[in-house]
Amino acid sequence: MTLIAASSGPVDRALRERASVALPAGAYGHVTADLLWPEAPQFVSRAEGSRFWDADGKEYVDLMCSWGPILLGHRHPVVEEAVQRQHRRVDCGNGPGAIMVDLAERLVDVVDHADWAMFAKNGSDATTLCLTLARAHTGRSTILVAEGAYHGALPWCNPNQLGVVAGDRAHLAYYRYNDLDSVVDAARANAGDLSGIIVSPFRHDAGFDQELPDPVFAQGLRDLCDRTGALLILDDVRCGLRIAYGSSWEPLGVAPDLSAWSKGIANGYALAAVLGSEHVRSAARSIFATGSFWFSADAMAASLATLDVLERDDGVAVMHRWGRRLWDGIEHHARQRGVAVNLTGHVALPYVTFPGDLDHALGEVFAAVCAREGVYVHPRHNWFVSTALTDEDLDIALAAMGRGLEAVAAAGRHG
Ligand SMILES: Cc1ncc(COP(=O)(O)O)c(C=O)c1O
Repeated sequence: MTLIAASSGPVDRALRERASVALPAGAYGHVTADLLWPEAPQFVSRAEGSRFWDADGKEYVDLMCSWGPILLGHRHPVVEEAVQRQHRRVDCGNGPGAIMVDLAERLVDVVDHADWAMFAKNGSDATTLCLTLARAHTGRSTILVAEGAYHGALPWCNPNQLGVVAGDRAHLAYYRYNDLDSVVDAARANAGDLSGIIVSPFRHDAGFDQELPDPVFAQGLRDLCDRTGALLILDDVRCGLRIAYGSSWEPLGVAPDLSAWSKGIANGYALAAVLGSEHVRSAARSIFATGSFWFSADAMAASLATLDVLERDDGVAVMHRWGRRLWDGIEHHARQRGVAVNLTGHVALPYVTFPGDLDHALGEVFAAVCAREGVYVHPRHNWFVSTALTDEDLDIALAAMGRGLEAVAAAGRHG
């Protein structure tokens, strides 16, 4: 197989070298060098709108959106102005600002199932709070989790077992996404102790083709929770405000009891939210939940401004239009070149793999050519579309992807 030589720029390489000493072994987590592919930069120097620049000054059309937080494009002027206005007053105060109440009211307005909101920072904060709330509400312990789903990097949900003890995962039981029988079986095995079911809006496990939810499965979860008194928890951290202007299962007509949000809700500022229905309010009132930075006002100002712009511009529809154009364009190029591709997921969070490419070697060839041509996509994770894309971005992206597909075809022939 023709692999493309690794060639991030000299500044990026020098930073990796220094990071390998000053950090445990370079950067870690989802931005670790081990997860990169040939030609991919590790370090970023600046970003604006639909573009970002790596440490060597090379410009990219951004189709990863910082792994989800960027919804309206980097440094959106309305969001930046709102943050600066708030920052001149107070960000991290002895108590929250009025803006927390404004934002809670707004989210309750925007998201159908929500009657109250509470805030935190990371998606993991929000998903973990949802589990605590379900247990506080029901007085039971077991939470059903989809096998292979990502809900954060805390011990209960970290995909890596190192440093995790069995107790961290006690009271979790697993089901298969879109397989209602497996949920019913797991619920039956934990009858009398079922506290909640956590589920993502679609199956977006890293490295696998994505799967949209079967409406019967989604409704089945709701019915099971209604029968057992368990709470339905929708992990909208990744998809929130990209699939719908509201919870991502509103288009299916399925309302969760709790939903977890982060990433895009403040267009790049650190904010997470748990939204809950009225019957969970008393549990939410009773638990102790806090963090040093959970009440920071700047991120809340960013979130309100993000919602303003999304609403004003019908931003969700804009993302869907760009996503559809991208999706159709990739299919067109693939057909023209006779390359089989699997395009899966939602148009606003699409993902490309190649049939049989289990180790993602062809995906890396594709992503490497895209990176060389100034387009940033990931071979092992779904991509993200922002409202900031332009016709020019789409032209650049699709031209790069056409060349990426040619490289995949050539690699496949010589492999
Ligand atoms: C679906 C989902 N849930 C939870 C999380 C955890 O969010 P965070 O990394 O902000 O803790 C992520 C992060 O990628 C996610 O995609």
